[in-house]
Amino acid sequence: MKIKTVAFAISNTDLKKCPTDGKPEFAFIGRSNVGKSSLINLITGNKKLAKTSSTPGKTQLINHFVINDEWYLVDLPGYGYAKASKSMRSNWEKFISDYLMKRETLMNIFILLDARLDPQKIDMEFINWCGEKQLPFVLVFTKIDKLSSSELQRNLAKFKKEMLKTWEEIPPVFTSSSISGFGKEPVLNYIEQILKIC
Ligand code: GTP
Ligand code: MG
Repeated sequence: MKIKTVAFAISNTDLKKCPTDGKPEFAFIGRSNVGKSSLINLITGNKKLAKTSSTPGKTQLINHFVINDEWYLVDLPGYGYAKASKSMRSNWEKFISDYLMKRETLMNIFILLDARLDPQKIDMEFINWCGEKQLPFVLVFTKIDKLSSSELQRNLAKFKKEMLKTWEEIPPVFTSSSISGFGKEPVLNYIEQILKIC
């Protein structure tokens, strides 16, 4: 799919204030610092669109970006931010879970996972929660430039094995690197396929 136009639409913490024009949208979520904003910038070919930072907890709001005037990419705050206070966390949980469960135009959730890490409890909990709520999602393993292909294969296999303890099947899996640009086309093609049927 060709990205012709990209524009920031709105940021907020309130589902009611999200765009109401009914365009389909795709959300990016995962642990703080996993590379959600960087992946959005990679996909849109605009390094300055979503704010990135080496300090976890950069994205604090639900950010809508409108693509080709037809659909939205949504950058979400990360979970598992160590410095977040309890009240910040429960606030996060409330507004993100509200958004994920009630947003009717949400077509798919991209759950990002750090390709370097063994399966993390917090990610499995989030994935299982999406399963319970029957939310459509796929997995994207990020930062693959930081490991060899054999390490990547090993970590992917470990993750699949862990998931198959509770899941009957594995959802689509993507890999990405915002450094090399790997992963851009497969993710965009996936979005294009969904847009065709919605
Ligand atoms: P929060 O908004 O804090 O939840 O983080 P985020 O998930 O949006 O992560 P962000 O895109 O801000 O990236 C966090 C850090 O990881 C930044 O320093 C990025 O440059 C780096 N990073 C992101 N993706 C990659 C990648 O594919 N490879 C490498 N090497 N670094 C990456
Ligand atoms: Mg971010």
